[in-house]
Amino acid sequence: MTVSEPSETVTSSERAALDQLYTDFAAANLAPLWTQREGLMPNVPQPDAYPGVWRWSVLYELAARSGELVPVGRGGERRAIALANPGLPGTAYATPTLWAAIQYLGPGEEAPSHRHSQSAFRFVIEGEGVWTNVDGDPVAMRRGDLLLTPGMRWHEHHNTTDKPMAWIDGLDIPFVRQLDAGFFEFGSETLSTRDTPSRARNERLWGHAGLLPVGAPTTKASPLMAYRWESTDAALTAQLELEDEGFPGVVEPGHAVVRYTNPATGGDALTTIRTEMHRLAAGCRTASIRVAGSAVWQVFAGGGEIELEGELHTLKTGDLFVVPSWAELSIATETGLDAFRFSDDPVFEHLGLDRVNRKEEA
Ligand SMILES: [Fe+2]
Repeated sequence: MTVSEPSETVTSSERAALDQLYTDFAAANLAPLWTQREGLMPNVPQPDAYPGVWRWSVLYELAARSGELVPVGRGGERRAIALANPGLPGTAYATPTLWAAIQYLGPGEEAPSHRHSQSAFRFVIEGEGVWTNVDGDPVAMRRGDLLLTPGMRWHEHHNTTDKPMAWIDGLDIPFVRQLDAGFFEFGSETLSTRDTPSRARNERLWGHAGLLPVGAPTTKASPLMAYRWESTDAALTAQLELEDEGFPGVVEPGHAVVRYTNPATGGDALTTIRTEMHRLAAGCRTASIRVAGSAVWQVFAGGGEIELEGELHTLKTGDLFVVPSWAELSIATETGLDAFRFSDDPVFEHLGLDRVNRKEEA
């Protein structure tokens, strides 16, 4: 039997009794399922988040102005400016689970030490000269590198140059907030180290593909804090070369993908955020795809066009776009395109909520 609102055949006294019932529900802090099932359990995800594009040129210009006007230091902690999805008013969230921001550090500036439950990464599309100290281990930041600061690892940044540097921060702030799982601690007022090695200690220990340091403990999040562009680039190049030679490896014609993983487990580098680099060969058009879960992309090199929920957008290097859950996406490029993607896929997979719908080209 389906429970639903009574029809107009009810008598006025029944209507009055029903109205009183709803009034009493509200007074008792109760809500009947039958008046809201569709909103609670839609047939397919109905995200509030808006599918859209944020331009790097706009982000960078505003971040640079912030650099002149807003000091970085204790309290604010970071000069980070987040994508605030207009579909999620009152938040500074890109999606219901992901936070994405441009962070800008001026010449010689230092961002103080802290740690928190939230997992974080930095992805660099231009510049160098900043080191992130993770638990006192200095990690160089350079173009194309992915740098991690997993949950509860102390981290601080310092710019050793006379030039500003900006990068993208990605965190699981909204997800952790929703779970009420967040803890935050301030660290020392002074930098743990001013060393500037080209390779961090964690890279020297863990950064050898296919080789596990037997004496080092394994951890849920990756113990490797830096994934260097040289390796990422070589892996993507090899996939497309192998495709040309007739061997498997690409996810679809002209579309190479690598995922950043925890070298100790083979799982995602961060427990709550998937990070990947995609390379589309010139002339590639991906299949249209819907994914349960949300993602943020940034064009790292080249340019192209996306069709996102039926809208076409032209993208240049640095531009970001947000793909809410179940939004249909395809990407095309005339000249070739590299794009970084991060998503909440690990959460969905761990919970058995993952689902993909792929629409092949007719
Ligand atoms: Fe942080």
